[in-house]
Amino acid sequence: MIREYETAVHYNAWSNPGVTCEEKMRVLRLDNEEITYAMAVSEEGYLMHVYFGSRVADEDDILYLLRIAESPYTPHHHLREKLAFMGTRPFEYPCHGIGDFREPCLMLMDADGMSAVDLRYKSHRIAEGKPQLRQKGVSCLPATFAGKNEADTLIVTMEDAHAGLTVELYYTIFRHKNAVTRAARITNHSYNDTRILRALSTCVEFEGSAYDMITLNGAWARERFLSRVPLHAGKQSIDSVRGESSHQHNPFLALVSGDASEESGEAYGFNLVYSGNFFAEAEITEHGNTRVVMGINPFDFSWMLRTDEEFVTPEAVMVYSDAGIGKMSRTFHDLYRENLIRGEWKDRKRPVLINNWEATYFNFDQDKLFGIAEQAAKLGIEMLVMDDGWFGHRDFDNSSLGDWVVYEEKLKGGLKPLVDKVNALGMKFGIWFEPEMVSEDSNLYREHPEWAIQIIGRELTQGRAQYVLDYSNAEVREYVYGMLRSILDSANIEYVKWDMNRQLTEVGSTTLPRKRQRELWHRYVLGVYELMNRLTTDYPQLLLENCSGGGARFDPAMLYFSPQIWTSDDTDAIERLKIQYGTSMCYPVSAMGAHVSDCPNHAVGRVTPFDTRGDVALVGTFGYELDVTRISEEDRNRIPAQIAKFHRFNPLVRTGDQYRLGNPFSDDCYDAWMFVAKDKSEALFTFVRILATANMPSITVKLHGLAPDRRYLCEETGQVLSGKAWEKCGIIIGVNRDFTSQTFYLKAI
Ligand code: GLA
Repeated sequence: MIREYETAVHYNAWSNPGVTCEEKMRVLRLDNEEITYAMAVSEEGYLMHVYFGSRVADEDDILYLLRIAESPYTPHHHLREKLAFMGTRPFEYPCHGIGDFREPCLMLMDADGMSAVDLRYKSHRIAEGKPQLRQKGVSCLPATFAGKNEADTLIVTMEDAHAGLTVELYYTIFRHKNAVTRAARITNHSYNDTRILRALSTCVEFEGSAYDMITLNGAWARERFLSRVPLHAGKQSIDSVRGESSHQHNPFLALVSGDASEESGEAYGFNLVYSGNFFAEAEITEHGNTRVVMGINPFDFSWMLRTDEEFVTPEAVMVYSDAGIGKMSRTFHDLYRENLIRGEWKDRKRPVLINNWEATYFNFDQDKLFGIAEQAAKLGIEMLVMDDGWFGHRDFDNSSLGDWVVYEEKLKGGLKPLVDKVNALGMKFGIWFEPEMVSEDSNLYREHPEWAIQIIGRELTQGRAQYVLDYSNAEVREYVYGMLRSILDSANIEYVKWDMNRQLTEVGSTTLPRKRQRELWHRYVLGVYELMNRLTTDYPQLLLENCSGGGARFDPAMLYFSPQIWTSDDTDAIERLKIQYGTSMCYPVSAMGAHVSDCPNHAVGRVTPFDTRGDVALVGTFGYELDVTRISEEDRNRIPAQIAKFHRFNPLVRTGDQYRLGNPFSDDCYDAWMFVAKDKSEALFTFVRILATANMPSITVKLHGLAPDRRYLCEETGQVLSGKAWEKCGIIIGVNRDFTSQTFYLKAI
């Protein structure tokens, strides 16, 4: 039964600088100076995709792109072939059940057990800037943000009158960045409950299928290795079903033209602002076109919408580049640095830290830590981070998660004496937490076994001897947060590493009603967001670093809360080339946690020069993860110069444009990259030899991104050349030794 309801207000403004609505043809378009995203409403009210790519200036071009001459443009004229229309047209938000057999965005289960949805255009409105993504009853949905003069937003309200449902499609275009974001708000206006079985965030239809698909895949300690393969017939997808964005696949997918390189060709990047189960797919349809969809994974997902309840999907970020994969990445970097990462540390150089994990693992006490800090302070290190093992009775990874009280046998007298002493050295102090977890051997689990995610009566699967707390339960969140607060208030703690070390199994909650159990996957993620938001609101000065067994939650949603994320537990400088290369597809190096660790490397046993480890960590947040009291005198003596290099170049690396000049996944045996200042006044070029080959001639690496007509002095070689010459002739690398690195600084004169 359908109730009377109000939907979107019809705003008078047909247009503003970024959004235009051509009434006669019912074309809705978003433009900035370089790109256009256009859609059109068919006579029956279907919202169809028209175009996404470089700016289309002429209205006639858009009308041509509409392909209205092509039958069947509209079922109104060809009613008996509505099925052909539904099955072939490019829809903005395709629905299941009414003839579009490709991958849908929306699927429901209504009170009668029916799953079809038929969305028709109802109205649209234009908003200045970018309205915050909100859902009633949810305290925080991470998303990009923009001021009034930075972006324009179009909200199209679609309606299924039969189901009493509206779907508002949010589109924002950034004025100075080639990015469009999308999200959907689904509201139930009927008297009946309805169940959302899938609600994806975006769908974009491409003409043809001559694209390569880039994805970032891996495993623990091997995150975001890049894969690039041509699209093939059928569906190709990546996803996570683990409750986190995952080591295995990042919520990122790009379609690039077959000939696309770093510097040329077309690239479309899609990235989901979400930290839980996601799904991204490219499907070549029967007529050889390509549909890309992305959103929360429909697998094992359902969400009950009672009367007047709403559900808001996570945001999908879509970037277009007409000048290669490099430009796509730089657009993501700018967008995330300026319009996603927030807080005190957003634009600041981060303190050089030393983390005791690889130095001591669980085997430390206050004297050991203080010894490390004392030595570190002398070398110029600015912060000590105490990693896992400081709480409960944690001597190994099999106990105490959930008991966030100081382990007095290790830290006599609590945290404050140690923190005060470290502060007296002129160093900051940081601490590790894993707030979403509980060990079986913990007071918390003994007192509240019902707070773990579980299926009552089933054996609970352990991972690293621990269980996951039910963050859908406000009582659990409140309790954990209380413990965090009392630790944070007990001493001058200026940094938190928030870890998450296992995936979700037996996904059930002891408090959610039966009909809402499948919501736990998503409610868990919303609970994590709520707590991170509380933490960063209550402690605005705090530097938060996310971590999930290394980089299993390296996603844009986490960047909304923390300006940096631990990239991987693999700290080997050579493997890191691949990990950091893949990560840089859409994430800025300012967000990548990167440390110099000891050798042989703990993950792969490789021995690399100390300087190479420094140069690779330099393109990250920079720090050390070793026992500075026990490494060789020679290595120790290199640290002050390494830190000086970090201080000198970090502003350029953190804020500049990144150009990938080598590819560690290729057979080239080297990697190389450079950072160019936004005003083109300086650049830093880094070269890392992977394996050397005997009798190999020197390598020339051509530079990119310099101003062609300005002259640049290379500090290391003394050469002065025009930007054009550096780009044409490059830098000649003569050194031919395994794992060595070199940096070159160029200054415009
Ligand atoms: C995870 C992190 C590591 C370290 C350990 C501690 O694996 O990625 O950096 O903090 O947990 O248990």
